[in-house]
Amino acid sequence: MDKLLLIDDEDDVRYSFKRIFESPDLDLETAASGEEGLEIIKSFQPDLVLMDVRMGGITGLETLRRIRQDDAKLPVIMMTAFGTTQTAIEAMKLGAYDYLLKPFDVDKIKQIVADALKAARDMKQVVACEPLLESEDYDLGIVGRSQPMQEVFKMIGQLAGSDATALITGESGTGKELVARAIYQNSQRNDKSYLPINCAAIPESLLESELFGHEKGSFTGAGSQRIGKFEQCDKGTLFLDEIGDMTLATQAKILRVLQNGTIERVGGNKPITVDVRIIGATNKRLEEAVAAKEFREDLFYRLNVVRVSLPALRERSEDIPLLIDYFLKTIAHAESRKPKSILGETQELLLQYDWPGNVRELENVVRRAIVMAKGEAIRPDDLPAEVRSVSGFPIAAASVQAPDQAPLPAVANDIGTVAATLFHWAKEQPDLAVLPAVERELIAHALRETNGNQVRAAKLLGITRATLRKRIEKFVIKQAVSVE
Ligand SMILES: Nc1ncnc2c1ncn2[C@@H]1O[C@H](COP(=O)(O)OP(=O)(O)OP(=O)(O)O)[C@@H](O)[C@H]1O
Ligand SMILES: [Mg+2]
Repeated sequence: MDKLLLIDDEDDVRYSFKRIFESPDLDLETAASGEEGLEIIKSFQPDLVLMDVRMGGITGLETLRRIRQDDAKLPVIMMTAFGTTQTAIEAMKLGAYDYLLKPFDVDKIKQIVADALKAARDMKQVVACEPLLESEDYDLGIVGRSQPMQEVFKMIGQLAGSDATALITGESGTGKELVARAIYQNSQRNDKSYLPINCAAIPESLLESELFGHEKGSFTGAGSQRIGKFEQCDKGTLFLDEIGDMTLATQAKILRVLQNGTIERVGGNKPITVDVRIIGATNKRLEEAVAAKEFREDLFYRLNVVRVSLPALRERSEDIPLLIDYFLKTIAHAESRKPKSILGETQELLLQYDWPGNVRELENVVRRAIVMAKGEAIRPDDLPAEVRSVSGFPIAAASVQAPDQAPLPAVANDIGTVAATLFHWAKEQPDLAVLPAVERELIAHALRETNGNQVRAAKLLGITRATLRKRIEKFVIKQAVSVE
């Protein structure tokens, strides 16, 4: 459960926050002064602090300064009335997570609190690498014993001892964010803050000001000065996720930080020195983006000095059983249930599938299967159609190409081509729900070619007659074909 501490000297404010945040998932404590707040932090150990700037006794800023002396990571959101933004700016320079202007917008407060709690969890939850999983003293793990994953663990170890910029690449769902957090947690900066920023999620026009801040009046809408993430995260680690999605102008500014450790606020002309470690991640092929002049070559070389390349799951299928086991255990644990087991044939299907969504997709498939499974063990039927149906296709295509087989009749070659083409087309589609449709089309095609002779159709498809029957039932193809 997340723990939130509210420090405000006004009874009304404390009361309304209690009402806003009343939830079984959140433990809320309140304090009526900075002094009391500092005491409560020691015993309560909150994940997040919301604090008024103006209070009797020590001010909010002074309280923040004292919190920071003991803990450079605890996110603190400051609350201040309109017209006192200068204080808010001071607070950001002291490393506040964000600030809220009164009067409050409840939805906005909820959003900022949710973001800050996530940031707190990212810093706290221990990400253990596979070799450390035995200790059980972790929240999340990077599972994998395959050769490419051994390389990844080695890189994380090397990066931990240095302050070097790191670039993490790999397809979507391969664990880039997890690796970024493992690097941070093992680094010398692990007692300072870690801020993740998703460059693709922030509109282009706002990203620069989000990262570097801006001066008052620097563009329409820049009503007051703003402190960016680089200044806010001084001495800490900034995780620039989807770094391949920045404009060339922002890239130039990032290059400058890497070269001489300074930034300039948007609309400002004074260089500001910052000390921030950058970890970048992208699922784009940056080399191609450089060739297409969409990514600065000089920045690419700066970032690419230390690169962690995460393998796609299909390139390390020997890790699939380990991952299944890990997810069966951790998901059951999180839901306080008894872990389920998995049938051999179910695992076989999971091993054959090519996982375009990588570990994230496997995790989702296991999660869904746990819910679907009626008994103790997960059966093939508990898997989504695209995973179940995969076995028929490569076999059909492969049997046509197998060199040691007698030449197949022309019609077989034809269906092999159809299979391969459809299968490849289906893999390119973002929506995998098309796979069953492709399978249905293939079976219908085979039945047409063989005039509905199931024995021959099964042979053509490279599946058993029993499997073909099941598929026909599933897709209700029979009537359609016999009508034709
Ligand atoms: N090696 C691994 N062991 C255990 N869990 C993993 C592993 N790799 C990824 N995961 C899990 O898979 C999910 C996706 O991982 P993550 O968000 O790090 O991927 P990503 O590479 O950042 O993806 P994207 O490019 O889509 O942002 C997370 O829930 C993560 O915990
Ligand atoms: Mg990610």
